[in-house]
Amino acid sequence: MKKKFLMVCLGNICRSPLAEGILQHQIDHQTLDWEVDSAGTSAFHAGDLPDERSISTGLKYGIDIRHQRSRPFRINDFDRFDHILVMDASNYQNVIRLARNQADKDKVEMIMNYLTPGYNQQVPDPYYGDHGFENVYQMLLEATNALIEKLK
Ligand code: 4NP
Repeated sequence: MKKKFLMVCLGNICRSPLAEGILQHQIDHQTLDWEVDSAGTSAFHAGDLPDERSISTGLKYGIDIRHQRSRPFRINDFDRFDHILVMDASNYQNVIRLARNQADKDKVEMIMNYLTPGYNQQVPDPYYGDHGFENVYQMLLEATNALIEKLK
């Protein structure tokens, strides 16, 4: 059955666009019948391109995310996606708060728990720093590899 994933962070310009790009790249290369999209818990950057630092980090590894545009998380994303993967505890709270029922809540997971189950490790927000993007990329690559091994 086709699986549908939504990557979620705060602005949908730094972390979740990279997460979407990495998983999409893996889907393409492993010919998985999966879909991936991303969204932000805020609409601060709605319509914007990903952050230029996320774009350049992706391009360094052959992942082009320049077609992506930021959009806010919507309630009907609970209906459209099977797995809603958040980057940090704040994203988790923001999405859980919108859940209508237990089935919605059950779809929401911290993405790093695929690599380190139960640790609730957070993907740090790199927006205000300058050196966080490479670390974010490597964390997301490891998490998505683990996700694929678990769910494919
Ligand atoms: P993201 O990073 O949640 O990984 O996209 C951020 C982007 C923008 C802001 C915060 C975090 N902001 O406050 O504008």
